[in-house]
Amino acid sequence: MRKKIVAGNWKCNTNLQEGVELAKAVNELVVAKGDKDVVVVLGTPFTHLTKVVESVDNNRIGVSAQNCGAEAKGAFTGEVSAEMVKSTGATYVILGHSERREYYNETSEILNKKVALTLENGLTPIYCCGEPLEIREAETQNDFVKKQLDETVFQLPVDEFKKLVIAYEPIWAIGTGKTASTQQAQDMLAFIRSLIADKFGKDVAEEISILYGGSCKASNAPELFSQPDIDGGLIGGASLKAEEFLGIINAY
Ligand code: G3H
Repeated sequence: MRKKIVAGNWKCNTNLQEGVELAKAVNELVVAKGDKDVVVVLGTPFTHLTKVVESVDNNRIGVSAQNCGAEAKGAFTGEVSAEMVKSTGATYVILGHSERREYYNETSEILNKKVALTLENGLTPIYCCGEPLEIREAETQNDFVKKQLDETVFQLPVDEFKKLVIAYEPIWAIGTGKTASTQQAQDMLAFIRSLIADKFGKDVAEEISILYGGSCKASNAPELFSQPDIDGGLIGGASLKAEEFLGIINAY
C-alpha cells in the first residue's frame, strides 16, 4: 500500500510569525482529525523551518524545505545546504519545482547535485516534474516529462530512487486556477509509473508515491485523489489556509 501524501508548498509567503500561526492551526486540525492515513507535510521558507518543526506534532506532520544548495558547504554566500536543512529537524526537501527551474535556472545538472546531497543527509526529496503549456498543446508532454526524469532521478541507483516522492505539476495549472482534468492527471501519473517500472521494476513502481500539483483544492481533491495512480497532492495556494488544506487532507 503506497503512502498517501498531502504536502503544502507555501512558496515565498508568510513571515515567520504568520508561518508559525499557520503551522499551529494546521497541526491542531490534523491532530484533532485523529487518523493517520495521510502523511501531511508543510513546505515552509528556510527561515521558518526550526520554529515550525517545534510547533507541530512531529509524529503527525513532516516539515519540508522548498530548496537546498547544490554544494555541501563552503564559500557560497546566501546558500542553505541540505545538512543545514537537516539540522532544523525538517525531513523533506522540494526539488526541481518549475518556479526554481524557470526563475533560478535550475538545470538537470544542478538538480542532480541537490538530490544527491538531500539523500546523503537522510532527507526525502519531493522531486517535481511537469511541462509548460506549449508542450501540452503540442501533445508532447510525455516525452518532455520522460526527459526530465531520464536526466535526473532516473540516474540514481534503485535503492536511492526508492526513497523519493515524485510530484507531477503541469506548469499551466500552477496558480492559474486551471486544474489538469482528472483524466489528464491520472494519465500522466500512470505514464510516470510505467516509466519507473521499465527502469527500476514493477515492485519499485508500485511503492513510489506520485503526487499531483496544480490548482488542487478541497473541492477538486476528492476526484483527483480517487484515481488509482494519484497518491496525493503538492499544494500551493490552498495550503496557505488551514481549513482549506484540511479539506484536501480529508479528501482521502
Ligand atoms: O508546489 C505547488 C504547486 O506549484 C501548485 O501550486 O496549488 O497554487 O497551483 P498551486
